[in-house]
Amino acid sequence: MERINASIGFDKRLYAQDIAGSMAHSSMLMEQGIISREDGQKIQEGLQTILREIEAGNFKTDPKLEDIHMHVEARLRELIGDPAGRLHTARSRNDQVATDMRLWVRDTMDHLDGELADLIDALLSQADAHADTVMPGFTHLQAAQPVTFGHHMLAYVEMFGRDRSRLRDARARLNESPLGSAALAGTSFPIDREMTAKALGFDRPTANSLDGVSDRDFALEFLSFASICSMHLSRLAEEIVIWSSAQFRFVECSDSFSTGSSIMPQKKNPDAAELIRGKAGRSAGAFNALLMMMKGLPMTYGKDMQEDKEPVFDAADNLQLCLAAMSGMMRDITVNVDVLKAASGAGFSTATDLADWLVRSLNMPFRSAHHVTGTLVKMAEERGVGLEDLSLADMQTVEAGITDDIFSVLGVDNSVASRVSYGGTSPVRVREQIARWKQALKDM
Ligand code: ARG
Repeated sequence: MERINASIGFDKRLYAQDIAGSMAHSSMLMEQGIISREDGQKIQEGLQTILREIEAGNFKTDPKLEDIHMHVEARLRELIGDPAGRLHTARSRNDQVATDMRLWVRDTMDHLDGELADLIDALLSQADAHADTVMPGFTHLQAAQPVTFGHHMLAYVEMFGRDRSRLRDARARLNESPLGSAALAGTSFPIDREMTAKALGFDRPTANSLDGVSDRDFALEFLSFASICSMHLSRLAEEIVIWSSAQFRFVECSDSFSTGSSIMPQKKNPDAAELIRGKAGRSAGAFNALLMMMKGLPMTYGKDMQEDKEPVFDAADNLQLCLAAMSGMMRDITVNVDVLKAASGAGFSTATDLADWLVRSLNMPFRSAHHVTGTLVKMAEERGVGLEDLSLADMQTVEAGITDDIFSVLGVDNSVASRVSYGGTSPVRVREQIARWKQALKDM
């Protein structure tokens, strides 16, 4: 029973939140005349001592005492005697743990918000340095149309920007205080829930005591955010793994974020990227674990809910680590500009530009232009040359109306420069978006 029941092994990391909650609760009990000032002050001094003890690493735990809440209270009794028993007036471990978890998740969210800002900043630096660097854009992992490396980085900036806004949305919904819901029904003591909510930085108290002790959707929203953000990290990591391979050589990871092989001296493996990709599964697993744990629980608290902690802690720890690793890796990465440029011309990647020119200059329907372009691609393919290497005379045998002007859209630099539609890949648009994001980072 002791082993299945105890949560102290993992919930001790809620100590700071637990003590903050007890400080707020005891202040309120004093203010409302529910406990005497004298007892209240002893309680608060004792709590501060316990905080220092835990922080100094001088705190013994015992599985018999189950969880962090019982540990703090038991130590308080050792320190101050009987008044310790008054701290739990008008409170239950049910509203206490719900409060602690909200505080912990909120602190973590605030920390991750900063980590995300840092990653966005790292990606913006690369976008800035490579606003003009041409690379192949892919669909189906087949070269499709040339894009700029800066534009590619900005795609991830958009994703991580949305993750950040998801995090903030979830934080706003989380920020209500369950403290004072007591076991489930509220309490007959004249407590002031507004006061404790305010002291703990919550916007307001939760409006229903049953919901207050049994809601864990704030944790689910956090894990949902973590799963989506990890998925984005994993996609970028996967691209780095592909790009840094000997077959691609688009980028090179710094030595600090790679490892060698113990047997093959030529190897440089993108381990950090692979671990980020690998760890993404854990957040999704954590989200599922909590969702499945909650889905069959009747109102209100069930001990099942003690199982909310490990998935939340694991996902938070790993996401924090992965965001930091990704920021470092992206700041350090070397972009092989020449390799990217050469690759971006392969596979007739400017065929769409040729077709668009036929539509624009000869007023051809797009479907016919598609057909003419196909014939020209075939011709170039048979000769083993690029589209821009065909002569005007050759092109005119396929479509008589073609003029010299067509060469202004062939070639990868011309191609990307022409993609000036809003949100497009042209360096002009990319620079516009970098400026917008830099401003947004400052404003957020
Ligand atoms: N350790 C428990 C948890 O994490 C604290 C709440 C216990 N409440 C109770 N009614 N047994 O959920």
